[in-house]
Amino acid sequence: MDSYAATLARMPDLREAIEQHPERYRVLTGERPTGRLHLGHYFGTIRERVRLQDAGVETFVILADYQVITDRDSAGDVRGAVHGAVLDYLAAGLDPTSTTTFTHSAVPALNQLLVPFLSLVSEAELHRNPTVKSELAASGRTLSGLLLTYPVHQAADILFCKGNLVPVGKDNLPHVEMTRTIARRFNERYGSVFPEPAALVTETPELPGLDGRKMSKSYGNAIALGMSADETADAIRRAPTDSERVITYDPTNRPGVSALLATAAVVLDRTPEEIAHEVGGAGAGALKRLTTEAVNEFLADHRARRAGLSVADAAAVLREGNERALSVANETLDEVRTAMGMTY
Ligand code: TRP
Repeated sequence: MDSYAATLARMPDLREAIEQHPERYRVLTGERPTGRLHLGHYFGTIRERVRLQDAGVETFVILADYQVITDRDSAGDVRGAVHGAVLDYLAAGLDPTSTTTFTHSAVPALNQLLVPFLSLVSEAELHRNPTVKSELAASGRTLSGLLLTYPVHQAADILFCKGNLVPVGKDNLPHVEMTRTIARRFNERYGSVFPEPAALVTETPELPGLDGRKMSKSYGNAIALGMSADETADAIRRAPTDSERVITYDPTNRPGVSALLATAAVVLDRTPEEIAHEVGGAGAGALKRLTTEAVNEFLADHRARRAGLSVADAAAVLREGNERALSVANETLDEVRTAMGMTY
């Protein structure tokens, strides 16, 4: 069994334990605010966060703004992306009175943990991280110091609040592994301060983009949660299909048609095969109409709630979240300095 399969195999027991004792867990998870949140985020992580919050697990959500500049020269419209993400969180049901939403840049003590943590890992370990390697390749650039070390930064994101449960997608599993290593090594050297967090992987398979490739803002193949119904219809209308009339689910040979089927299936909570069978000989036009209607209906409430909120609401949530996160980070940093004998 590879380590991903081993992690998946542990999920049922972990879910059971969370349900029995939500008070034993503290969730830390988050996003890199590079653009608008899309359907992939919703089914991959946002829905899970709301469930955990509603089950009574204390939840922290980081908008990792310093992580934006790991592989680019400018932070772009990071402010717009952060505010937009908060609006999507609120519309999806994250409750700012129980869930703490914050950014890297507003919590200096979190970032300071990076200094002792960097001493706990070797250069070879940093270079071995498979996600860093593929992000480096995708960026087409030289490796920045921040890209090489961001998994350690992410360990600080998780450990500053002693998070012990980290809902993430498959590509972030190496970072949770690194966080466990850092926590263990810190505790061995300086005394027990940090938990060794567990990854919580969602069952939803990765939702492809509308062209069948990985869903990504940079490919322009994603349905953003904040799009209007017309923008959604437009994006689906432009999605590539093929010349075969009868609709079948075949991701390898028919990526376009299959991506539409996968999208409709996830919002309708049905299987893509079932929908393919139903559309059958009615063709790609009918499949697009069905998908557009399904997505727009699914997102209607979310969009209505989002439209009722303003940037000022998002800013207020962040002000409070940043303040809360800062006070937790200061406490942890004090503990770290004390454990290391650095009190003067
Ligand atoms: N790297 C995560 C992503 O791909 C975002 C992130 C930053 C994160 N810090 C985190 C996720 C801490 C979980 C825990 O979007």
